[in-house]
Amino acid sequence: MYIPAEDRYDKMTYRRCGRCGILLPFISLGLWHSFGCKTPFEVQQSLLRTAVDCGITHFDLANNYGPPYGEAETNFGLHMDRDWRPHRDELVISTKAGYDMWKGPYGDHGSRKYLIASLDSSLRRMHLDYVDIFYHHRPDPDTPLEETMGALDAIVRSGKALYVGISNYYDPETARKAIRILKDLGTPLLIHQPKYSMFNRSVENGLGDVLKEEGVGAIAFSPLANGLLTAKYLKGIPEDSRAAKDPRYLKPEDVTAEKVEKARKLNEIALRRGQSLAQMALQWVLRDGVVTSALIGVSKPEQITENAKALDAPALTAEELREIDEILG
Ligand SMILES: NC(=O)c1ccc[n+]([C@@H]2O[C@H](COP(=O)([O-])OP(=O)(O)OC[C@H]3O[C@@H](n4cnc5c(N)ncnc54)[C@H](OP(=O)(O)O)[C@@H]3O)[C@@H](O)[C@H]2O)c1
Repeated sequence: MYIPAEDRYDKMTYRRCGRCGILLPFISLGLWHSFGCKTPFEVQQSLLRTAVDCGITHFDLANNYGPPYGEAETNFGLHMDRDWRPHRDELVISTKAGYDMWKGPYGDHGSRKYLIASLDSSLRRMHLDYVDIFYHHRPDPDTPLEETMGALDAIVRSGKALYVGISNYYDPETARKAIRILKDLGTPLLIHQPKYSMFNRSVENGLGDVLKEEGVGAIAFSPLANGLLTAKYLKGIPEDSRAAKDPRYLKPEDVTAEKVEKARKLNEIALRRGQSLAQMALQWVLRDGVVTSALIGVSKPEQITENAKALDAPALTAEELREIDEILG
């Protein structure tokens, strides 16, 4: 059984999630990559142990993380048994349903049937009685929002999730409608999970304002743009990088000369500030109080320790933010 570092909570900054009772670490760890069948169990274990030792208390999963689908949850269940069962009350564990998971008409989208059945399967795979947060993973234009939000409310009332979230709801008015439906049902929405980084400013379309007004937290996924907002691609595509190893979501052709040039200029600002580009990219996402936590992926433990120090540098100044905007164009 692993004994986590005693001073782990002193090392981390925790931020309130919207107007709810939950505090999240400013960095959370996602298990989308590095927890499927291609990553040795010992590597996964060292990633989770390093994260906990840095004070990271939040792990984010989804039914279809792998490969194959379900494998990240299955592996996480084994890690729970090996290391984390005695620490369950110190962890915030989330999962999601909303993308394709099983064959036939009931294993995708936003029906009450799919969401409730999927969470039951996720809990079995993870060897958990409940998750802390259950998300609807993406909007479903063909299912009434009332049905999907009603399913989230029913899940909380069943005790299988403590809080609920929505993800990829980029239209501000659809997000507001979901928030209002849940509020009326008596299950306030805890959190929204959008994609947000210097290379993808989705939240700035009015969604961030809605979340602030409604007192809902936000956790930004892919804040490093799959690794493009780090120094790793400045001299080509390294063999051990996501673009070279796992081109499902970041293809070598996505590492464009334009993005690399922007990363090179951003890296100069970061070095001037005495931090790495990854650290500055995380600090940028967290700069204005909309985003509660930056949800990172990692392939190596040292990436976690580096990223967990992202707030050690002074806050970005107005002048630096302007310079960054100019580079991003
Ligand atoms: N809700 C949704 O629809 C959705 C969609 C996607 C992701 N997510 C969530 O967001 C999480 C993070 O997504 P992501 O993996 O795309 O996030 P990301 O943080 O943008 O990218 C992670 C990659 O960046 C590289 N990296 C991280 N720290 C680094 C450092 N200090 N130096 C150099 N490289 C570094 C690593 O690449 P290498 O592998 O090349 O080392 C790592 O695999 C997922 O695990 C998942 O929980 C949610």
